[in-house]
Amino acid sequence: MTDAIRAINPEDIPRLSRFLTGAFGVPPDATFAAPEVLSWKLFDPMGGPADWPSGLVAETDGQIVGSISLHPTVIHQTGPSADPIGIPAIHPIDWVVSEAGKGMGARLLMRVHRLAKVHLAIGLTPSSAAMGNRTGYVIRQRIPVWRRLLVPWYRLRNQGGGGWARRLLGTARDAVGLARPRRSPTLPIDLEPVAEFGSDAEQVVGRLAMPLCFTRRDPVVLNHFLRFPRPWFEGRMIHRGGSARGFLMLSVVPQPSVTRGTIVDCFLDDPDPDLWLASIRAATEELRRRGADVAECFATTPWITEALRDSGYRPVFDIPFYVRDRSGLLPPADVPWHLTQLEADYAYT
Ligand SMILES: CC(C)(COP(=O)(O)OP(=O)(O)OC[C@H]1O[C@@H](n2cnc3c(N)ncnc32)[C@H](O)[C@@H]1OP(=O)(O)O)[C@@H](O)C(=O)NCCC(=O)NCCS
Repeated sequence: MTDAIRAINPEDIPRLSRFLTGAFGVPPDATFAAPEVLSWKLFDPMGGPADWPSGLVAETDGQIVGSISLHPTVIHQTGPSADPIGIPAIHPIDWVVSEAGKGMGARLLMRVHRLAKVHLAIGLTPSSAAMGNRTGYVIRQRIPVWRRLLVPWYRLRNQGGGGWARRLLGTARDAVGLARPRRSPTLPIDLEPVAEFGSDAEQVVGRLAMPLCFTRRDPVVLNHFLRFPRPWFEGRMIHRGGSARGFLMLSVVPQPSVTRGTIVDCFLDDPDPDLWLASIRAATEELRRRGADVAECFATTPWITEALRDSGYRPVFDIPFYVRDRSGLLPPADVPWHLTQLEADYAYT
C-alpha cells in the first residue's frame, strides 16, 4: 500500500467531488462539492501566495482517501490609533478523510499548518474540534448570527414547520414583530449594482475612520465571489451624498422550505450609526426584493449590531471563531473584528 499527499489538480475535480460527498455523507448534488463549484473554489483566481497549493489530497494506491483545501487570506488591522498589521493566514476548508483514510487527517492538516503561521476556523465539527484543540486553535470570540423575517406567511407554505395551528400561531407572532416601530435613518444612501468591484471599494477600506481587524476585502477576493458559478451573489457600492462610503455583498439561496437571504458582507468606512442603519435597511430591502423569506447577518462589531437591532433583526445563535497563532503575531483582542459570511466558504455551505 502506498500513501501519498499531493496538491489537487484540475483533473482531480470529478473524483474529488464524488469523494467529498461520500466522505461527508451528503447528497451527490451538494453545492459545496459540485464540480463547477470545486473548480471555482480551487482554481478561480482569488489572490494568495503563488507557492501555496489550493488544496491537498491524500491517496492510498491511487484512490483519494482524504482532502483539505486552503482559503488564503491576510489578517489586517488598520484605522486610527491601531498598529497596522497584515498577516498572511489560512482558513482550512473541506477537511475530511474516508474510512480508508483514517490517520491521514492529521498529516493533511500538519502540511497546511507548515505553510503559514496563523490559521482560522469557524464552527468546527466535534472531530475537527478535538484535533483543533490539540494543535493550537483557541476560541478568539463567538460570532452572533442575527436573523429577520421578511415574509410573515412563509411559514404557512412550509409543510415541514409543524401543523396548521402551530404555523398560524407562528405567522401571527411574526406579523406582530414586523409591525413593531423602528428607528429610521436620517440621511438616504444609494446602492449601485456592480458587475465588478474596483478601486472605489479599495479606497473605502483604505480610509477607515475606526480601528478594525478584518480579513482580506480587496476587489480580487470580492470579484471571486461575484464569479460564483450559481447566480447567488450580488455586489453593491454604497453611496451617500455622491461619495462611495462602503460596499455590500448579498446572497439569496433558494432552499426547499425557505428562501434564505444573507448580508454576506457590509463594509463601511465609518462607524456612524445613521450610515450603518441606512445600509442595513437598504440591504434588507434588496434581499426582500430578490424573494428572500428571511435575512441573516453576522454581527461582531457594535455598529453592525445596533443597526441590525434597529432594522428588526434579533440574535438567533452564535458560532465559535477559532484562531491558531502559536507565534503570538495577532494583537490583543481590544480592536473589534469585522467577521462576516465572506470568511472562507461560509456563504455557500
Ligand atoms: C477531522 C478528520 C479529518 C480527522 O482525520 P483522521 O484521519 O481521523 O485524524 P487522524 O487519525 O490523522 O488524527 C487524529 C488523531 O491523531 C492525533 N494527532 C496526530 N498527529 C498529531 C499532531 N501532530 N498533533 C496533535 N495530535 C495529533 C490527533 O490528536 C488524534 O488523536 P486520537 O487518535 O486520540 O483521536 C476526520 O475525523 C473526519 O473526516 N471527520 C469528519 C469530517 C469533519 O468533521 N471535517 C472537519 C470539517 S471542519
